[in-house]
Formats: sequence, structure tokens, C-alpha cells
Amino acid sequence: MTEEFRTQCRELMARFPQARSALLPMLHLAQAEDGYVTPEAIRVCAELLELSTAEVAAVASFYTMYKRHRSGTYHLGVCTNTLCAVLGGDEIWRTLSERLDTGHDEVSADGTFSLERIECQAACTHAPVMTANWEYLDDMDVDKALDVVARLGRGEAVRSTRGPVIRPFTDTERTLAGYDDGLAGEGGTADAKMLAGVAYARQHGMSAPQAPERSPFDETSGTDDAGGAPAGDGEG
Ligand code: FES
Repeated sequence: MTEEFRTQCRELMARFPQARSALLPMLHLAQAEDGYVTPEAIRVCAELLELSTAEVAAVASFYTMYKRHRSGTYHLGVCTNTLCAVLGGDEIWRTLSERLDTGHDEVSADGTFSLERIECQAACTHAPVMTANWEYLDDMDVDKALDVVARLGRGEAVRSTRGPVIRPFTDTERTLAGYDDGLAGEGGTADAKMLAGVAYARQHGMSAPQAPERSPFDETSGTDDAGGAPAGDGEG
């Protein structure tokens, strides 16, 4: 890893009261550098944070947004959880997998695309949902999915259905590491479909129950520093 990578990691570490909290953005920064989390990136992160390489590797291999091999320039996710699957996600997956000759967690021969079956994106109101470098592509169908792939493959600018332009994987990873790309205001806000539940509740005079004055979590004083269970919990 370059000296600049180390410098930027130290900047990220300085943003948090505890330096180890910077591990997640540091791993995104590693992906911005190399397109994936390399063994060397794991070693450097561990050294800077005074963690073991096993601890860093455990985090990097737990979260699916961290890749252990190079991603395509455009990392495509197809939600195949139940709602998206029955509304067309399975068909979209099959079609893209055939078109790109690429299976789950694989990269196309020319390196332009990688493909992943993704879990529910909490966007079921717009199922079936895809993502391209984590930008939403809502209300997809097979034709729309093929069109996105064709346009990205030709190097055309493609926008997420929520506004932002889909940028190359490494650029997006830099943003996820916490570096301001100046695009925070890009894209829309929640639409009527997303807010249908709130609108219904208002129409029918429904409201959430009042929060208790005292949180039940206040009873858990005596937790250890790591935020674990209260002392004595589960004993005797
Ligand atoms: S099931 Fe696909 S976004 Fe929820």
C-alpha cells in the first residue's frame, strides 16, 4: 500500500474517539485503492490499528460489501430475496448471469462487470431492485436490466433511478470511505410510494406510542466497556 494510503488511514482514524472505529472506512479506502481488500491492506490496517490480521480479516470477510478479489468496474447486485424474486428478480438474475457469462461473486471476462445475488435492500416498495456500485435501480425488469448493462458497457453515463450517476467501483468506494465527493445532495428524497405507510397513518389518525420517559436500556448500567451484557447476566 502507498504512503498516501497510510496517511489517509490516519486521517480516518483521527475522526473517531477510538481509532479502531475507523476500520470499516479504512477497508472501503483499501477497495478504492485496489478494487478489493488485498492481504497487504489487511496487514497495513492491522498494523495501524494495533489489531491482529485475524481481527481485520474477520471484519473484511463478514460484511459482503468487502470483496476478497477484484470487482468489476461496475458491481451489479440483483436482489433475489422473496419479494423481488417473485416480482422478477430471479428472471433478471438468470438473464444477466447468462448475458455476462458470470455467476454469483464472479467477474465478467473483460473485467467490466461483477455480479452478486444481494439480500433485501430495504427497498421492497420498488421491487424488483438492482444496484450498480450500490446505487439503486428500482422497479427493474429484464429489458431495463439489459439496457443498463449495455449502456454501462458502452461507457455511457447511467443514472440511478434515484438520481446519482453510477460511477466506477473504486470511485464509489472512496465516497464510502467518507471522502466528500460533492455529490451528497444529488438524488431525490423519499417518494410517495415509500411514504405510503406514513400517509395512511396520518389519514387514519394513527400515531406511534409515546416513548417511555425512562428507557428500559437505562437498567443495563453496569455493562462492560465493549457494550456487552450487563455484569452477572446469565449467571446463577
Ligand atoms: S426483497 Fe428485494 S428489496 Fe426487499
